[in-house]
Amino acid sequence: MSIGLFYGSTNGNTKRIAEMIQAQYPGGVDLHKVHEDFDPETFDQYDAIILASPTYGQGSLQEDWADFIWEMDDIDLSGKKVALLGLGDQGEYPNSFADALLELYDKVHELGGEVVGAWPTGGYTFNQSKAVVKGAFVGLVLDVDRQAELTQERLARWLEQIRQEFAG
Ligand SMILES: Cc1cc2nc3c(=O)[nH]c(=O)nc-3n(C[C@H](O)[C@H](O)[C@H](O)COP(=O)(O)O)c2cc1C
Repeated sequence: MSIGLFYGSTNGNTKRIAEMIQAQYPGGVDLHKVHEDFDPETFDQYDAIILASPTYGQGSLQEDWADFIWEMDDIDLSGKKVALLGLGDQGEYPNSFADALLELYDKVHELGGEVVGAWPTGGYTFNQSKAVVKGAFVGLVLDVDRQAELTQERLARWLEQIRQEFAG
């Protein structure tokens, strides 16, 4: 199964996580950094997709994602499983923690894709997050600012979870 991971990263944290996934996912994944001129047809070559964005500006998508997400409107994700990964800082931004994930979630649904990889909210401390739908985060949320020590374990568990969900 071919898997493409598409990410935006302003300060490098999400890029580092993407590289960890590339190194750890069985069979590997292709990494693509999105940007304004990124070719949306790149999505067509993959059986399954991972989208990763940090949250900026009190609840917004990372800027490269914000510049690119409109370009996705012509692609068709029907029949594709899509896992979402969000980075945020629950200590500094407890009222908009990892909010950007909801924008990716809505876009995937709009384009006909199936979101997998929901993640429990236990172990995080925040007031509000748009990334919580039906009591769970819509994807893996990592906080390398406040909980760096939990990153590796969360990531390993989630990668095993999505490996099974991608195959199912
Ligand atoms: C100006 C600024 C605004 C931010 N806004 C939010 C926010 O609203 N919610 C959140 O969860 N994290 C927020 N963060 C934290 C980042 O999402 C977090 O540091 C992330 O790891 C950065 O990822 P990157 O290094 O890939 O860009 C913000 C960070 C900065 C510098």
